[in-house]
Amino acid sequence: MEVKKIFLPESELPRQWYNIAADMPTPLEPPLHPGTGQPVGPDDLAPIFPMPLIEQEVSQERWIDIPEEILEKYVYWRPTPLYRAYALEKHLETPAKIYFKNEGVSPAGSHKPNTALAQAYYNKISGTKRITTETGAGQWGSALSMCCAMFGLECNVWMVKISFNQKPYRRIMMETWGATCVASPSTLTKAGQSILDQDPDSPGSLGIAISEAVEAAVMDDNAKYSLGSVLNHVMLHQTINGLETQKQMAIAGDYPDVLIGCAGGGSNFAGHVFPFVRDKIHGKDIDIIAVEPTSCPTMTRGPFAYDFGDTVQMTPLLPMHTLGHGFVPEPIHAGGLRYHGMAPLVSQLIMDNLIRPVAVPQLETFQAGITFARTEGFISAPETDHAIAVVIREALKAKEEGKEKVILFNWSGHGLVDMAAYEAYLSGKLADHALAEDQIARALKEIEPLPKPKQYRG
Ligand SMILES: Cc1ncc(COP(=O)(O)O)c(C=O)c1O
Repeated sequence: MEVKKIFLPESELPRQWYNIAADMPTPLEPPLHPGTGQPVGPDDLAPIFPMPLIEQEVSQERWIDIPEEILEKYVYWRPTPLYRAYALEKHLETPAKIYFKNEGVSPAGSHKPNTALAQAYYNKISGTKRITTETGAGQWGSALSMCCAMFGLECNVWMVKISFNQKPYRRIMMETWGATCVASPSTLTKAGQSILDQDPDSPGSLGIAISEAVEAAVMDDNAKYSLGSVLNHVMLHQTINGLETQKQMAIAGDYPDVLIGCAGGGSNFAGHVFPFVRDKIHGKDIDIIAVEPTSCPTMTRGPFAYDFGDTVQMTPLLPMHTLGHGFVPEPIHAGGLRYHGMAPLVSQLIMDNLIRPVAVPQLETFQAGITFARTEGFISAPETDHAIAVVIREALKAKEEGKEKVILFNWSGHGLVDMAAYEAYLSGKLADHALAEDQIARALKEIEPLPKPKQYRG
């Protein structure tokens, strides 16, 4: 019998996170204050985040120690297993070897608790009583709810309305872990109310939900805001994944030629690939692919520009690939990939040609998810299906070329709470959304007056 899974013992759990800022060929340009347009300092961020996270956000240290209290809880689900997808390989008749890292084994079902745990911990030791956040498909909101419960913190989640209606079970998970969850836009905040005044039927977006959660945190001295993706400290916490994977690939005796992850705000992708990007910076030849939906093509069609992280323009301006903070994507089922921006770290590495972005249409992603379920058994989150679609493309390319490539991807989460999406696909109710150039141009008009990064390309 061939080895299917590679486990690491708990004693092999990485004791440090990897900070790619220390190895970037082009350093990130600073976030800018939304009012003054000047670089923000730690004090500007203090009303929203606790100081230890702000320090990590700007850190240039290559390795950052993981506190013992976090390690003690990481072992609830970590290290996660690395799988070899023999059945998928056989089905595709590819000479490629396909590996996947299974982040769906966390109690919340995805990679999101890797940073939720760290953020809850640093808030707890900084005296925060209540954390506010947004969530798209509900994976992030449920992960943070669980981790707030572990550290005795209150948690309030604004969930993008379209997903709130599509995925009631995610809301119930959050409530089971003791959090509250409301549909965004909501009437609880000025930001939500202003959107509803313009469009009472707004399906919501991550940008709007972020505005609501930030506003709620700023209004309460005992509350802080927490973001599940995009920011540097979130990418940092997620690197525990890639660091484990490197050890597991060494045990397998292989090294990836192609590395793939889906990217919404960039965190599961970054966490999985950044330790390998470091290898690439030092000369390894790896094709590192970030996958997004064609209906929210931030990396493939959005310029690298300064933009707000939220719709109502409360957050600092970040240098990133963006479709404009007012962009509201089609209500596709991969709710976690419906974000107008992309992590500045991922965006900068795209600019430096270390990461290659690819966009795939919705129907292809569900077809890929079905193929994966019928071969490897696991039912994937719709976000994860985006990665699988490109794994299949790459495995078929390897077949055409007759090359025995090693393909590695991040299986970012399971889709067991997303069955309504699979039902819609299986009953032929889903469609691909073509996104017209003028729709993007209209959304980008809003960012024209904003400052431009040095590498701005319109
Ligand atoms: C399973 C899963 N994968 C991927 C993502 C995309 O987010 P990120 O790019 O931060 O990993 C999400 C976001 O909700 C998710 O739930």
